[in-house]
Amino acid sequence: MDGNGRWAKKFHRPRTYGHRVGMQNIWPTILAIKKQKIKYASFYCFSTENWNRPTQEVDFLIKFPVDLFNTKKRDKYLKNDIKVIWIGRRDKLPKETREAIEEMEDLTKDCKSLIFNICIDYGSFNEIEHATKLLLKDYINSKKNIEEFSINELFNKLYTKDSPPVDLLIRTSGEQRLSNFMLLQVSYAELYFTNKHWPEFCEKDLELAIDSFNNRDRRFGEIRNVK
Ligand code: IPE
Ligand code: MG
Repeated sequence: MDGNGRWAKKFHRPRTYGHRVGMQNIWPTILAIKKQKIKYASFYCFSTENWNRPTQEVDFLIKFPVDLFNTKKRDKYLKNDIKVIWIGRRDKLPKETREAIEEMEDLTKDCKSLIFNICIDYGSFNEIEHATKLLLKDYINSKKNIEEFSINELFNKLYTKDSPPVDLLIRTSGEQRLSNFMLLQVSYAELYFTNKHWPEFCEKDLELAIDSFNNRDRRFGEIRNVK
């Protein structure tokens, strides 16, 4: 979800205006994703590095889930059978934000049509550190032999342990980098870049990305389907 600031600048509005409109674009995009029968979607909303932005902007970004999941907006997740999962570090955000997301996780825990991973205070390095600590504790406590370690054990400790690896990664606003996003999970993802800024990304753009994805040859290092 990149480009909120630049989009707002085009209209001579403050960056937080771009973030507000960007956040409003989450729900229509979720519906468009569900329409495509996609089962898992992750939205990168606030990264572990975003704390280094000006205080006013950080304040907005770390509190937006309270509005995103306010009492008027909650039911639509249930009605649409959408399960919310928080992907990210949980101990730094304000209590009201933490509660808003965790209440949504609880409320939607039995929903199945679409898993909506909301990535807040998320960064791959932090995720891997966190997962590695959990693993090391397991190994130490159960005196397990380190030679038995496999990468799947690490995957099972990531915040995304309940989601499959990423198939398609879409980045908006013309940047072509991963910015510490799910580095392990995107190992075989198809990457798609669009110049559209996140607040103006719409269903048509999603369809273009999916068309592009459907025309890729995914070989996973093998030589199958070579055209
Ligand atoms: C949104 O866009 C990403 C978030 C951190 C919420 P940006 O804030 O990165 O916007 P640009 O890149 O400055 O345009
Ligand atoms: Mg940006």
